[in-house]
Amino acid sequence: MKLIVETAGALKGQVRVPGDKSISHRAVMFTSLADGVSRVEGFLFGADCLSTVACMRALGVPVDIEDGTVIVHGVGMHGLQEPDDVLDVGNSGTTIRLLLGLLSGQTFHSCLTGDASIRRRPMGRVARPLLSMGARIDGRRDGDLAPLSVRGADLHSIKYQMPVASAQVKSAILLAGLFASGVTGVREPSPSRDHTERMLKALGAPISRRSGYTEIGRPARLKAMDMRVPGDLSSAAFLLVATLIVPGSELILEDVGVNPTRTGILDVLGAMGAQFDIEEGEPQAGEPTARLAARSGSLVGTTVGGSLIPRLIDEIPILAVAAAAAEGTTEIRDARELRVKETDRIRTVAEELRKFGVQVAELEDGLIIEGGRALKGAHCRSHGDHRIAMAMAVAGLVAEGETVVEGWEAADVSFPGFVDLLRELGARVRVEE
Ligand code: S3P
Repeated sequence: MKLIVETAGALKGQVRVPGDKSISHRAVMFTSLADGVSRVEGFLFGADCLSTVACMRALGVPVDIEDGTVIVHGVGMHGLQEPDDVLDVGNSGTTIRLLLGLLSGQTFHSCLTGDASIRRRPMGRVARPLLSMGARIDGRRDGDLAPLSVRGADLHSIKYQMPVASAQVKSAILLAGLFASGVTGVREPSPSRDHTERMLKALGAPISRRSGYTEIGRPARLKAMDMRVPGDLSSAAFLLVATLIVPGSELILEDVGVNPTRTGILDVLGAMGAQFDIEEGEPQAGEPTARLAARSGSLVGTTVGGSLIPRLIDEIPILAVAAAAAEGTTEIRDARELRVKETDRIRTVAEELRKFGVQVAELEDGLIIEGGRALKGAHCRSHGDHRIAMAMAVAGLVAEGETVVEGWEAADVSFPGFVDLLRELGARVRVEE
């Protein structure tokens, strides 16, 4: 499947982006362990979160979907059942890593695998601390690569200093901590997204947090809860950057999640001179939300690194597009983690942006992008990576002439309906088989 993008006229409108991917995964996974029925509104029906639903069903949790609401019939802390087949997480790193933590403390055996991208991504970063809690995990390359086998075990608590800021690693340990004896502690080198901590607390888990250190104990039970998932800022970022760089554009995004561990992109775009207003909304599912109003304007290059990186790690592909449209140089450092995402995003961003005539230097831990030159339409590839697909589509909106994004189906992983929303805003884009 390919996307054809024609140079856009101004984009205008008021839209709501689909639900937050990280929160949607956690909503289904965590309420599965609760006593009673939880209703999740605003769930993201993208391929990744549907993989989580399929895995939880395979673990014996009845999950119904009715009129866009996900209804989870929680089976309680000890109600999961041995799956009678391999659990397939598709393209979803969050599903496999969080499930590794969750399944380590069960009484049964399970196997986890995913697509070619998942089977290349490092799992040892999660398996190692879990092994030290007594988990029995094995897989290819000494347990670093899926397929992975998890044989349930009696876990004991650890105090773990994480070598990288990763919400997936942190969450896996906290989930294992729900089933471990004693109090499990995790310290992060810099703050990563904290949706797990917020939601487990709301469900009644004994969890306490102080500057970069989180502790969790073993609860007798978790309580069911109805919640509404806010819009995904990571998805909103594509529309936001499109609005900023396509002349004459004006956009209002309703109900976007603005958890401070996720808003690095807003800080950086602001520093680049972006014109937008943030109006605080009602909290949803224990998460702050806002209405974002943006309009186009000129941007200037900037420098990004350090503890800002985990707060915008998923937005770097689209930030690179904003940098290409900005005046001057943008330097992104300390982002080595990009090498182990759905693709090696340092390489794929550099390779695809160069096709538009953008000058990009690839660093070991980031990118240097020379902005300010007119982009020319390009024939791009998604490399099977949703965020690369959508970032290049946005670059296509400001490029002269037509842009093609091959492998467009990848976008469905996190942003089903992206093309329809772009069209609603006035962009001339179409999908071809
Ligand atoms: C996620 C955490 C991040 C992010 C990913 C989703 C999560 O990865 O890149 O898209 O839902 O916990 P890290 O675990 O590497 O921080």
